[in-house]
Amino acid sequence: MAVTEPLRVGLLGAGMIATCDYGILPNLGPLSGRVQIVAIANSTMEKAARVAREFAIPASYSSLEAMLEGSELDAVVNLTPILVHGRTSIAILAAGKHLVTEKPLATTMDEADTIVQMASDQGLVVVCSPPNMVLPSRRRARRLLEEGAIGRVAFARVRGSHAGPASYGWPSDPSWFYQEGAGPLLDLGVYALAEITGLLGPARRVSAFSGITDALRRVQGGPFDGQTIEVTTDDNVVLMLDFGSSTFALVDATFNVNAASSPGLEIFGSDGTMTLTETISFTGRGAVLHVGAGGGPGQPSKWRVVDQSEDADQESKVQSLKRAVLLDHLVECVEGADVTLSAEHGRHVLEVMLQAQKSAISGRAMDVTSTFSLPVARI
Ligand SMILES: NC(=O)c1ccc[n+]([C@@H]2O[C@H](COP(=O)([O-])OP(=O)(O)OC[C@H]3O[C@@H](n4cnc5c(N)ncnc54)[C@H](O)[C@@H]3O)[C@@H](O)[C@H]2O)c1
Repeated sequence: MAVTEPLRVGLLGAGMIATCDYGILPNLGPLSGRVQIVAIANSTMEKAARVAREFAIPASYSSLEAMLEGSELDAVVNLTPILVHGRTSIAILAAGKHLVTEKPLATTMDEADTIVQMASDQGLVVVCSPPNMVLPSRRRARRLLEEGAIGRVAFARVRGSHAGPASYGWPSDPSWFYQEGAGPLLDLGVYALAEITGLLGPARRVSAFSGITDALRRVQGGPFDGQTIEVTTDDNVVLMLDFGSSTFALVDATFNVNAASSPGLEIFGSDGTMTLTETISFTGRGAVLHVGAGGGPGQPSKWRVVDQSEDADQESKVQSLKRAVLLDHLVECVEGADVTLSAEHGRHVLEVMLQAQKSAISGRAMDVTSTFSLPVARI
């Protein structure tokens, strides 16, 4: 079903991912005629009004409820902090609106189950960040795995870490990333987990180690340079996933990777190895996909760069959309395409993270029971 009128969209949250150079509002150009941002709400009204002025958004509000009451909307993009996602997304679906939500889907399985059920009952589309699995490099990686390019997968290694926002000259106060309700597992591990489960399918068990590296972190660079952060949530998590049939993955989710020379993702199979240079990137170039096989003991591996020239148009579209790729996916799905960034996948990734936290406390591997399926990878 083609959408003839632009989808009327409201933004909830007028913070960094709404406004920064790789965020939603500055990158809507390719969606012109398909999406119209008609309202924005933020719990501090002054911020909502300022962003509305800056991006010529017709209406601004101080709450979700006021926005739902005051503007005619088809969909809402939830850009609130992690702890707020679940309850606000439930309210958005209760109002009968399609939903795009930043990651993670929610912070409890009850919230996640409610979101999945409400969307299904009402025939509403939910698009759940991160966008990894709609990126052309991941679509191509899925296709190669399905075609058996590296044989039977034995295990994978995925990086879901960086040095942490306190180390990057973050433009706003980065303290909350290191405190209860956030941390690298929910903030970064979610990308690696969405990616590896997107490539290998649902995980069945998880085991994790988790801890705090330093109880205090000092902010480096940016407007909060020198500020001390009390670290109250684990900032150093390493997970092992079991996919069944002796297929495993190792995933790190930490604020402790200051530099890395290994690929973001490596998948080792019976006939070869696949690597992706970066876990997610909107730096203007797509991730490079390699496939290699051993040259024998003591011999260098033989690598080939996978030809991704066929994906060039799609890649350039994604690179220009940046985070607005989530809205592009919403429009496609409202028009009838299958949802790749589904609430079911978001719920599965959340369950892996919550069970990982339990595993780290109990010292035992934990079962993961939720599942999801991805539509055929279109390239
Ligand atoms: N900043 C990034 O680089 C980045 C990247 C990818 C994803 N994200 C995700 O985007 C989301 C938002 O992150 P951010 O960095 O923009 O945070 P932020 O703190 O800059 O912005 C969040 C905004 O939401 C507002 N808010 C909080 N509760 C609200 C509520 N109940 N109703 C209305 N507004 C409310 C806050 O006032 C704030 O302006 C998070 O889920 C984060 O994981 C952020």
